[in-house]
Amino acid sequence: MARIGIFGAGWVGLVTGVCFADLGHDVVIRDVVPEKIDALRRGDVPFHEDGVPELLGRNAERLSFTLDPADVAGCDFLFVCVDTPPTYSGDADLSRVWTVVDELPDVGSEAVLVMKSTVPVGTGEKVRHGLDARGLSHVGYVSNPEFLAEGHAVRDFMRPDRVVVGAFDDADGDAVASLYSSLEAPVVRCDVNSAEMIKLAANAFLMTRISFINEIANVCEATGADVVKVAEGVGLDHRLGPHFLRAGLGWGGSCFPKDSLALKQLASNSGYHFQLLSAVIEVNELQKRRVIGKLKRHLGSLPGKKVALLGLPFKPDTDDMREAPSIVIASRLLAEGVEVRAWDPVVSDLKALPRGVELASSVLDAVDGADAAVIVTEWPELAALARTEVREAMANPLIVDGRNLLDPAAVRAEGFVYEGVGRPSSLTDVLPETAEREHELET
Ligand SMILES: NC(=O)c1ccc[n+]([C@@H]2O[C@H](COP(=O)([O-])OP(=O)(O)OC[C@H]3O[C@@H](n4cnc5c(N)ncnc54)[C@H](O)[C@@H]3O)[C@@H](O)[C@H]2O)c1
Repeated sequence: MARIGIFGAGWVGLVTGVCFADLGHDVVIRDVVPEKIDALRRGDVPFHEDGVPELLGRNAERLSFTLDPADVAGCDFLFVCVDTPPTYSGDADLSRVWTVVDELPDVGSEAVLVMKSTVPVGTGEKVRHGLDARGLSHVGYVSNPEFLAEGHAVRDFMRPDRVVVGAFDDADGDAVASLYSSLEAPVVRCDVNSAEMIKLAANAFLMTRISFINEIANVCEATGADVVKVAEGVGLDHRLGPHFLRAGLGWGGSCFPKDSLALKQLASNSGYHFQLLSAVIEVNELQKRRVIGKLKRHLGSLPGKKVALLGLPFKPDTDDMREAPSIVIASRLLAEGVEVRAWDPVVSDLKALPRGVELASSVLDAVDGADAAVIVTEWPELAALARTEVREAMANPLIVDGRNLLDPAAVRAEGFVYEGVGRPSSLTDVLPETAEREHELET
């Protein structure tokens, strides 16, 4: 069993740590935020991620938490799991990675520094030089990008589709690959640059699929097709597959927005204009804003209207608000003079949202007197939104389903007006007074 040191107690670092501990390794996790370390020492997980509290409790004797980088000195593997946010220019900010390299204690000759943070291609070579310059040329370097998805992070670690190991030295690669041997996942062995690119390319491809189906959804809206059926029919083609073909309000989160920008900048810094990726990013930006157009179409002018924003994180099963579409939608609604009441089952702190958004204590509280309810995050709790007490509580029974969570026919049968993404919407579906207004405008 190995001794593993981890820099960063965020989603990637903590999940990696508790999972390796569960596989029998001794793990020490270092972070720079004292409150995080205090919470973890008490057994509290500082964010919402299924399975992590259980693994933390079950493996407490193999896990320790520290603020002191010297405490990882005896480790065989040093995993870098720090955040790499975008800089103002869109490039990845590697300052935290460099801090780790600078703070690395003098570790043993068998130690390997393992990069799990998502970094631009070429970072490994620079870190290798940095280690050498610090007199740490005996420390190996391996790129081992992380593919976990928040909400399923433990499952993704324990049952990965693949493990990518990019190494300068085969023995270092073997050592890191051996940590995953009990997981029986395919291992892709390659050079460091290729490992770094695999992570960026995989994310870019997933984003491309989402923007693609969102564009198809927008054409469906213009032509009367139903994107849910279209995606089903497309996804059954074995050459394409069904994943990431769900139309909605676009992606968000801590990874896709920054990784798409980082890859775009990486390409342009290298003299290449990555045209497709630029379009993929732009489609995603516009997709969030289409909600405003839909509300206008149904409600006419927006100032003074009340809108319930249902669901806040960028996806369910997490409380991660980083780059959540709800932030852009709330900002646009406030700018239009709309009163916004937000409800979420796990996020109760609205600091990520613009000032002016009110927090509702329940779905019913959020929709009370509302002119529209917008589903932003597809929480299972919202599957039962189209019910009598909700309709009666609303001033106008309009549901804008930004995630195609609901069955349009069932929602309409309950007396609601329904607007999804890429699904047919007829004039008879528009609220009576809005239909009249549209008729007046036309005549
Ligand atoms: N969150 C995801 O779903 C996901 C998935 C795959 C890859 N990644 C990548 O993994 C990296 C980490 O992502 P995350 O979501 O876990 O980030 P995070 O912000 O949740 O966690 C990063 C942690 O690193 C800590 N930190 C900063 N500087 C440090 C230092 N010098 N020493 C020790 N700790 C330090 C921070 O305090 C924070 O707790 C990023 O590069 C990200 O792109 C994230």
